[in-house]
Amino acid sequence: MPADNHALELAGTAAAAFRDVYGTEPEGLWAAPGRVNLIGEHTDYNDGFVMPFALPFYAVVAASKADEWSFHSTYGDGQTLGGPSLDGFEGWAAYLAGTAWALNESGYPVGPTRFALHSDVPVGGGLSSSAAIECAVLIALAELYGHDIDRAEAARIAQKAENEYVGAPTGVLDQSASLLCEAGHVMFMDCRDLSREQVPFDLAAEGLAMLVVDTQAPHRHADGEYAQRRADCEEAARQLGVASLRDAPKHAKLDDERLNRRMHHVVTENERVLKTAAILRSGEVRGIGELLTASHTSLRHDYEVSSVELDSAVDAALGAGALGARMTGGGFGGSAIALVEADAIPKIEDAVTGAAAQAGLPAPRIFTARAAQGAHRVA
Ligand code: GLA
Repeated sequence: MPADNHALELAGTAAAAFRDVYGTEPEGLWAAPGRVNLIGEHTDYNDGFVMPFALPFYAVVAASKADEWSFHSTYGDGQTLGGPSLDGFEGWAAYLAGTAWALNESGYPVGPTRFALHSDVPVGGGLSSSAAIECAVLIALAELYGHDIDRAEAARIAQKAENEYVGAPTGVLDQSASLLCEAGHVMFMDCRDLSREQVPFDLAAEGLAMLVVDTQAPHRHADGEYAQRRADCEEAARQLGVASLRDAPKHAKLDDERLNRRMHHVVTENERVLKTAAILRSGEVRGIGELLTASHTSLRHDYEVSSVELDSAVDAALGAGALGARMTGGGFGGSAIALVEADAIPKIEDAVTGAAAQAGLPAPRIFTARAAQGAHRVA
């Protein structure tokens, strides 16, 4: 499959940075995208269903084998960090070092490598900028060191980097989206065994568009609250005597009111993903709008992971005629999505921007998403 055109453009910058910093040509260039999750939120670590598509924003790495580890990023001041070992990297460099570490830990030995990273996945936008880096580094190292790794297994390895090296207790959604999504498709995936189906997703052909509203609000308390939600789910599953909330009986009820709401979100969200997949297979795309909105309501009230900025964007989009809208990703800031008629884009953008201004919130960045290609070698 040819490289995504936009990934190719970014690769030019990554290659130039590599030449500037190391004075040689890289052995290759590899790209991995950010993602939007259409529906299926906070279900991944409950062995449930998700439905992401890849965004045409990419992390691109230029890389070559070397005598020592070296990580350069065009982000911020354009730092270069490195050394003989993989220990002790923090911030953006932890995503690179952690992925190399996770490969070594998983039985795929890799040696010192030089990287130049260039990414246009918005940082802090809830669009998986960190998973994009991990996945680009992973496919680069696998190829440089001659490992043929199944993409689903690769997603688990990148998740291990995030969980055990970076220290964020996330599920497998973001890394699988970056590695496994296909252009023009949304991926329906069962997080229990990573089995998946690529469902055609061509909104433009239906006269529709997906707006992504990056609220530009910082993630607040995201890490601690995320871990707390996971703990709630594990406790709810324990009380029900099931392995995970995926297996919660449909009409189960827990005495603890908070745990009951958490469980209710996961159970109903899994049902919504299954319904969304069925509707998309039938080609009646407009029919998924209600499910998207119901997902947001559930995340807002039962799971309590939304934010003022996300609610403002969702409410304004719906008020201006969006077919459906919801927060996407972990929540507590980040981005919302809205399914809209293509000819209503300006009106809905204005409504979302106006609502933020009126509430004194940061001006959101709004763009139209297309389903792009998952991780691939660019050159
Ligand atoms: C973040 C995590 C994912 C997933 C989502 C919520 O993006 O990285 O693993 O749990 O939140 O669906």
